[in-house]
Formats: sequence, structure tokens, C-alpha cells
Amino acid sequence: MKQADLIIFAETVVTCSGGNGPKSKDEAARIGEIKNGGVVTKNGRIVEVGTRAEILEVWGGDRLDLPGTSVVPGLVDPHCHPLWAGDRTHEFALRARGASYEEIHAAGGGIAHTVEASRRASTEELKSRLSSVVEVMAAHGTTTLEAKSGYGLSVEEELRQLEVIAMVDSETPIELVPTCMGAHSLPPEFEGDRAGFLDMITRELLPAVKERNLARFVDVFCERGAFSCQESELVLQAAKDLGFGLKIHAEEFSNLGGSRMAGTLGATSCDHLQHIHDDDFPALKEGGTIPTVIPGTSFFLDLDVYAPARKLWDSGLPVALGTDFNAGSCLMPSMQMAMSLAVLKMKMTPEEALTAATLNAAYAVGVGQKVGSLEPGKQADLLVLNTPDWRDSIYRFGANAVRAVVKKGVVLNTILRSPLGAPL
Ligand code: NIG
Ligand code: FE
Repeated sequence: MKQADLIIFAETVVTCSGGNGPKSKDEAARIGEIKNGGVVTKNGRIVEVGTRAEILEVWGGDRLDLPGTSVVPGLVDPHCHPLWAGDRTHEFALRARGASYEEIHAAGGGIAHTVEASRRASTEELKSRLSSVVEVMAAHGTTTLEAKSGYGLSVEEELRQLEVIAMVDSETPIELVPTCMGAHSLPPEFEGDRAGFLDMITRELLPAVKERNLARFVDVFCERGAFSCQESELVLQAAKDLGFGLKIHAEEFSNLGGSRMAGTLGATSCDHLQHIHDDDFPALKEGGTIPTVIPGTSFFLDLDVYAPARKLWDSGLPVALGTDFNAGSCLMPSMQMAMSLAVLKMKMTPEEALTAATLNAAYAVGVGQKVGSLEPGKQADLLVLNTPDWRDSIYRFGANAVRAVVKKGVVLNTILRSPLGAPL
């Protein structure tokens, strides 16, 4: 008998494996369901996935027998702004009375409001706020998330935010992939000096971030009221020259051509995309750029327009799904809810939504070789859901089907509020 550290048996195991990279088309729909399945872990990694019978023939060791449950890969949230101080509840109320997100931004609220509060906050406060956010996300099944800076907007404050992200990453079992988003908005001290701000980002901030190894990606808000396509290209080209992976907020409220530009630069992902045109798709394909769609933002801002995820899938692109978690445009920590919205509002199939929230999301943040599917050699990041049919985690929208979170082979928390297998 071979000795495992932990074997988890469930009524259904969903592997999401089989991709040689992010999945598209029919491959994305093949999620690999094993009835009466199990996952075997050793030293934080998966060593075998198979049926209960196959596993019991070969493996001994600690065992969790979980009838009435299903196991899926840990969810990966590839687009988050999780670090800020202050409060934007008043904006939520303003929006309910008819003000739009863009109007609030143009009037000096929105991102600027959060920047002011975040600059004032102590490092301890920022750290504790981020830790709480990560905990809530983990309880909803996110085992890896992207974490953007972008509420500092000065060299010193952006570095401080990225340092906080690094500290929280080192202190929690959940993994944070850091992205520098210094070009999120023009701060008040650079009013009338856009070139000066972009110079500061490209010549001072990005080299300093690189030198300290504080970010894997650089992102820019390419949007009317934020940065033009040309300005965004300056930032991304400088980031590329320094060896960062590239991301972009593109075509969120208008189409400025950011997705074509990002594809041409070979960006890792191109995010939001509510206003992308069909003839922008080929640039993403040629660039190997993953379209990351974010239904939560359209929903929270009550916009009629959702990114054309159905068309993106049908064109053969590998789509990823994120929350966009932030105080202004999408205060939604749950990737389960993101999957519900992707199915309801974007007409993804549940299988596509799961692939987009696991394997493809992992590739969208450069960790697809390590997490995002259950297969031997990968990190043992998985969720036990309190239902034998994993689709319930999407169908029961707004609820939380996570019974337990396993990260690197360690059971992090067990949510005991409902007996195994019972509906919520
Ligand atoms: O992705 N679009 C830019 N940034 C965020 C919003 C940030 C904020 O409002 O604080 C977004 O929607
Ligand atoms: Fe965003």
C-alpha cells in the first residue's frame, strides 16, 4: 500500500483537467466528473484522482469519507481590487437614486474617494482589512485570488499597498497574485499634468516595483475618464519592457480599442469587455490573451450590457471569470455568485462557468500549471461542496455551498451549519 497524507472521497469529483493550457470550445465543457470518486494528496500536492475503488486498491492513509458531497477545484478569482480603506455606502445610495458610476467618478467621488481614505489609513489597518476580505473570499471557495493595488496612485503609496498584499499573502494559506495598478485614475495632484503622472508611473513606480519584486502583473484602466488607449499603451509597453505580465481594464463603459492594443502587446488577460466588438476578437486570439469577463460589475452597476461571453466562447477563445471585488463597482466576494451571474446573464453553461472560474482563471493570472484543476502534480487546492451535484453551487444563487476548503492539502475550515448533503 502507498501512504497518502489525506484521501477525500465524495459522491462526485469534478477534475476540470485535460487542458494543455486554458480550455476553449468543447474542451471547456468537458469537466471530468467522476462518480464515487476520490482525491489523494501528499506533501500538499495531488498524487492521484480516480474512483473510490481504484484508489482503495493502492492508497492507505487518513481518509475523509463524505457521502452527499461533491469536490471541485478551489476557485480562482483572477480580477480583484481587494485592498482599500474608507466606505462607499453613500455612493450605493446615490446610485439607487439614479446617479451613475461614471457621473460619481467624474464629480470626484468613486476611486478618488477611496484613494483619499486609503492614503490616510495605517499600514496595520490596510493589512487587517485585506486579511478580512481574503477570509470571506476563502469561505466562499476562493483559494487563489489576484490582488491589485491602485488606490495609492503615488510611488510611495502604491509600494505600500503592494507590500501589504505581500504581507497578507505570506500570512494566509490563500495565495494572492499581486498586480500593480498605479494607472487606475489620475490623482488630484496631477490634475492638468497627465504626462507627468504617466512619467512617474513608467519611470519611477514600475522600476521600483520590479526591483522589489512586488508584482507579477501591471494593469491599467483604459477608459473615458481614466486613461486613453495611447496612454494605456505607454504604461503597458513600459511594463512589458520591464518583464511584467500585462492586464488591462478594457471596453468596460466604452470601446477605446484597448482590447486590440492589449492583444497586440501579448497581454495575459483583457478584462471587463462589456463593449468589445466582434472584430476585436482576433487580436485576443493572436495575442494568446484571455478574455476575463465580470458579470458582477454589470449587475451591481445595474447596466444593461454584459460582456458577450457566449460569443467569446463560440469564437474559440478561452474565457475566464472574475468578481472584480471592489468598493465602488462590485462589492461581491463570491465566485459562486459570479458563476450564477455568468450562467443567468451571459448564457454560459454551468460547465463553462466552472472552467472559467478554475482552470482558465488560473491561466489568466499565470498559475495555470500549478492550480485550477484536480490532477496529479498540481497543488491540492479543492472544495468540498454540501451537495452531490456541484451545479447546486451555481443554481442556489447568492448562497454558499462550500462545506470545506482544502489548500495545499490542508483542511482550512469546516462549515458545520448544515448536515452533510442537506440542502441549505
Ligand atoms: O474594475 N474600473 C476600474 N476599477 C474598478 C472600480 C474601482 C472603484 O470604483 O473603486 C472596476 O470597476
Ligand atoms: Fe476591475
